[in-house]
Formats: sequence, C-alpha cells, structure tokens
Amino acid sequence: MTVSAPDGPAQVLPVFDAFEDAFADLIRWRRDVRHFRRDPIDPEVLPKLLDLANLAPSVGLSQPWRFVTVDAPDRRAAVRAIFAACNAQALAAQSPSRSERYARLKLAGLDDAPCHLAVFADPDPQQGHGLGRQTMPETAAYSAVMALHTLWLAARCVGLGLGWVSILDADRVRAALDLPEHWQMIGYVCIGYPAINSDTPELEREGWEHRQPVDVTRR
Ligand SMILES: Cc1cc2nc3c(=O)[nH]c(=O)nc-3n(C[C@H](O)[C@H](O)[C@H](O)COP(=O)(O)O)c2cc1C
Repeated sequence: MTVSAPDGPAQVLPVFDAFEDAFADLIRWRRDVRHFRRDPIDPEVLPKLLDLANLAPSVGLSQPWRFVTVDAPDRRAAVRAIFAACNAQALAAQSPSRSERYARLKLAGLDDAPCHLAVFADPDPQQGHGLGRQTMPETAAYSAVMALHTLWLAARCVGLGLGWVSILDADRVRAALDLPEHWQMIGYVCIGYPAINSDTPELEREGWEHRQPVDVTRR
C-alpha cells in the first residue's frame, strides 16, 4: 500500500494483515524454553535480534535496556552457582505437597544453551530527559521488559527458543558480571535451539499450573 507521509515522500507501507494468522501462531508457540540443543547460533543472528529488541517501546524514548552477553566460562559458572543456591532455597520453601513436583521441574537451561544474555535496566537514563518517569519511575524497568519480550518473539521467528531465569539473586549476578550498581536486573535469559517444540507451556505439561482464560474487570 502506498501512502504519503506528512511533509514527506510517498512510502510503501507493509500490509500486516497478511500475516495475522502467522502472528497468532508465533504468540501461541513462543514458549519459555529450558531444554536446548547445544548447536551454536550463527554469530550474525544475535545482533540482528538485539537490533529488533532495540525497537521496543520505551518511556520517553529512553531505551533504558542494557544487554550483556555472558560468554566467559568463569562468569557463566558464577551465575550457575547462584542459580543452584537460589533454586535450593526455593525448593526448601515449597509446601510438602509441592516439593517433590518442584524438584522434578527443570527451571533453567544454563548448561546447554549456547547463548547467555543478561538484561538490565538503567533506572535513570539521560536519554528521554525523564519524560514519563516522574510519576512512574518503574516505567524504565517496564520498557526493558518490552525489549526482552520483543527479543523473545524475534528469536522464535528464526527458530530459536528463549528461557527466562529469575531464580537468581540479582545483586549477586550484577556483582558476578561486574556491572554498574545502579543497573536493575530484569532477567537472565538462555537462548538456543529448542530440544522440544510445543504449543503448551512446560509448567502445564508437567502438571504444575494451567493457563486460564483471559479475565477482564469492568467498571
Ligand atoms: C518474568 C518471568 C520470569 C520467569 N522466570 C522463570 C524461571 O526462573 N525459570 C523458569 O523455568 N521459567 C521462568 N519463566 C517462564 C514461565 O514459567 C513461563 O513463561 C510460563 O510457565 C508460561 O509458559 P510459556 O512462556 O512457555 O508460555 C519466567 C517468565 C517470566 C515472564
């Protein structure tokens, strides 16, 4: 479709309804992945995915997300140790009726995923001149979550899975990665080719929880 932008030349706009069904499939099949194949990812792929994530909406156009690729074996080992400690604590906190089931869950793909990416937010970036954050400072973190979700969908489009690991002590991870103290950890994600593809969340397949229909409150 050709349209004229205000004060600009005619532009060809993409027609999005052509992939409405494919988009719905992408959403349905996105999945949080914890079982990865060890195949490497083409080094050109991740920068392209991060460029797309960088187009996510952000408060005041502040782009407060900070991406950290974690490749050094000692840093990965440190994060893995933090996960192991936090997961042991979480297991100990389970009710007796849940603890066996919790112990059986695989809650991170840290050992097999070829790519480890830590996502942080700068809570007070210069970019954006503070617009929108006076009343809701948490919107910097929300913006970084938007970027992470964009990355998640973009990865799925090229056959890659992403697994979000939050069973971590954020302060310890930040210290292990030697990052600025004011950065807020949003998530530590594993990226790689999924060993299993499914349209059903793993927690549902394992009988831990079930997705519920959408609930809307009306006033
Ligand atoms: C903020 C956030 C944190 C999460 N943390 C973990 C985690 O630490 N370990 C894990 O296995 N899954 C984690 N997940 C994935 C959820 O368990 C998963 O999204 C949910 O079960 C629905 O499954 P689906 O993403 O495949 O649809 C996290 C997801 C989000 C959005």
